[in-house]
Amino acid sequence: MKAAVVTKPYQVEIEEREIPEIAQDEVLIKVERAGICGSDLHLYKGTHAFRKPPAVLGHEISGTVCRTGAKVTKFQVGDRVTVEPQVGCGNCEFCKSGHVNLCTGKRVPGTPSWTGTFVEYFNAPEQAVYKLNDQISFEVGALVEPLAVAVQALDQITGTSKNSMAILGSGTIGLLVLAAAKHRGYQDIYCTDTAPFNRELALKLGAKAAYDPLETDVAEQIKKETNGKGVDACVIAAGAPNIVDQASAVTKKLGEVVLVSMITKEIPVYTYSFVFNEQKLLGTMTYTTEAFEEAARLINEGLDVGAVITHELPLEETGRGLEILDKKTENAGKILVHL
Ligand SMILES: NC(=O)c1ccc[n+]([C@@H]2O[C@H](COP(=O)([O-])OP(=O)(O)OC[C@H]3O[C@@H](n4cnc5c(N)ncnc54)[C@H](O)[C@@H]3O)[C@@H](O)[C@H]2O)c1
Ligand SMILES: [Zn+2]
Ligand SMILES: [Zn+2]
Repeated sequence: MKAAVVTKPYQVEIEEREIPEIAQDEVLIKVERAGICGSDLHLYKGTHAFRKPPAVLGHEISGTVCRTGAKVTKFQVGDRVTVEPQVGCGNCEFCKSGHVNLCTGKRVPGTPSWTGTFVEYFNAPEQAVYKLNDQISFEVGALVEPLAVAVQALDQITGTSKNSMAILGSGTIGLLVLAAAKHRGYQDIYCTDTAPFNRELALKLGAKAAYDPLETDVAEQIKKETNGKGVDACVIAAGAPNIVDQASAVTKKLGEVVLVSMITKEIPVYTYSFVFNEQKLLGTMTYTTEAFEEAARLINEGLDVGAVITHELPLEETGRGLEILDKKTENAGKILVHL
């Protein structure tokens, strides 16, 4: 079968690989769509923490079950599915408390023990496989994984007031947070993005306003919109040196800031603003199985998130897709490859 492999930094080759053997508890999936995500970009650039070239790209997937192991009970050949791309060790304190996302021994795609999803056939244990309803396209089905990131981000918020939210950064993740937050009942959602294309997408997905942080004093504007109070919660889905301070400044007293973006450089933070306003700064890491289940349910119930998909490329053009995201040569949201 064909596989898109990062052979060395900035080089993607289509290589022949063996179709994976399946264990008794696994299914084999004929891949239909696989999404390019920020972590694939890190693998591509050679900067990923543990996915190192040579490695098969991808962890986002939709497809059809084409073979089932002897012990598989929930799936049949022909089922349309997506996969939660993590299998915890099952024994550590995090796995035992439902935080498989934090398990240091978890198995993930694109590593020596599990192929990535940019392949024609992908194996997965049935416990990690989720059905997609017949009316859900494979394109939207491939968005369950990034939507799970958004669900997990919202799950960090403990406050129950849902009058308003700010989302700093309207890339794929910020936009999916927007869709999921609207579904959860947040009324007025203010988005930011430096790119006009992304601000337009935010408005299309129901943001009350979308600001360019380079032109608008975001804190002042959002305070004005919220009668001087600030929003109930703010989600950070972009990286910039002032982004955490901006988040604190747009958030109300006792409000919560969820940090989704993976900012690996040190940035200055005016901690006093969190202290003075008794705000919480919360990290969020991928998703628990519970959040993934909810994302799959939201998609199956018809949550309309297809607008974040901007490109569909054949597997052979995976390298081009990565280049578009890396060099920002075109307006892009989620880029899918099809097989
Ligand atoms: N915590 C997790 O588990 C997790 C999971 C997935 C992604 N992430 C992280 O979330 C972040 C967003 O992911 P994405 O896939 O949406 O990335 P993306 O690159 O598609 O989106 C980022 C957006 O931020 C915008 N932007 C840049 N500077 C800005 C600024 N100063 N203010 C507002 N917007 C600005 C960009 O124009 C872009 O649209 C990344 O840092 C990614 O690594 C975290
Ligand atoms: Zn992803
Ligand atoms: Zn574990």
